[in-house]
Amino acid sequence: MDFEPASIRAFRPDDLDDLYRICVQTADVGQDATALFSDPKLPGHIYAAPYGVFQPSLVIVAEDASGVGGYVVAALDSRAFEERLERDWWPALRARYPEPTPDLAATMTRSQLSAIERIHHPWHVSEDLAERYPSHLHINLVPRLQAKGNGRRLITALVTRLREQGSTGLHFFVAQRNERAVGFYRRVGFTELPATDVHIFVTDFASPATPHS
Ligand SMILES: CC(C)(COP(=O)(O)OP(=O)(O)OC[C@H]1O[C@@H](n2cnc3c(N)ncnc32)[C@H](O)[C@@H]1OP(=O)(O)O)[C@@H](O)C(=O)NCCC(=O)NCCS
Repeated sequence: MDFEPASIRAFRPDDLDDLYRICVQTADVGQDATALFSDPKLPGHIYAAPYGVFQPSLVIVAEDASGVGGYVVAALDSRAFEERLERDWWPALRARYPEPTPDLAATMTRSQLSAIERIHHPWHVSEDLAERYPSHLHINLVPRLQAKGNGRRLITALVTRLREQGSTGLHFFVAQRNERAVGFYRRVGFTELPATDVHIFVTDFASPATPHS
C-alpha cells in the first residue's frame, strides 16, 4: 500500500482524459455517476475539460503513484469564459448531443438530460456575482485522495494563481445535498452568501480578512 502524499502540480494537455474520468467519478453529488450517463464524457464536457482547453494555467491536479486523482479548475473571468464557450466549445457539443425528442428523453436518466440541457442552455453568472467575484472554480478528488489535505492544498495553490493573475474575487455554487463539500468549503475559509436552493460560496481577494492570503 502506498501512503506517499499526492503531489500537486500544473495541468498538462495529456491530463485531459483524467479530468473527464475524475469528473464523472464524482458527478453524483460527489459520488460516482458513471452509471447515470450513456457517454461518461458528458459531465466533463461541462465541468472540467473546457477549463483545461481554455484556461490551462488555472487547472491544478493532484497525482499519486496510481495517477492523477484530483483537480481544481477555474476561470479567471467567468463572463469572458462564458463567451469563449459560446463561440468555441458549445456548438460542436450541441451537434454531438442534440436536444432529445420527448420519446428519447423518457429513456434517459435525469443526470443525462440535465447535462444535455446545460450544453444547449449554458449557465450564466449573475451581474452582481460576476462583478464582485469574477472568477469561479470546480474541485473534485476521487475517494483515494480525499480527506488527506489534498483539497485544501489544491485550493491554496489555485488561490495563489488567481491572485497572481489579478483576480479580485472567486465564487462557486454547491448542490444543497452535498453537505460534505459544504463542510469543507466552510472549513477552508470561504464565505457563504444567503441562497435558498443552492449554496453560494465566495471569497474577496481585496479584503484583508480573506482566507488563503
Ligand atoms: C470536497 C472535497 C474537494 C474536499 O477535499 P478533501 O481533500 O477531501 O478535504 P481536505 O482533506 O483537504 O480537508 C481540508 C480541511 O477541511 C476539513 N473538512 C473536510 N471535509 C469537511 C466536512 N465535511 N466538514 C467539516 N470539515 C471538513 C478537513 O478536516 C480539513 O481540516 P484541516 O485542514 O483544518 O485539518 C473532496 O472530498 C471531493 O472532491 N469530494 C468529492 C467531489 C465533490 O463533492 N466536489 C465538490 C463539488 S462542489
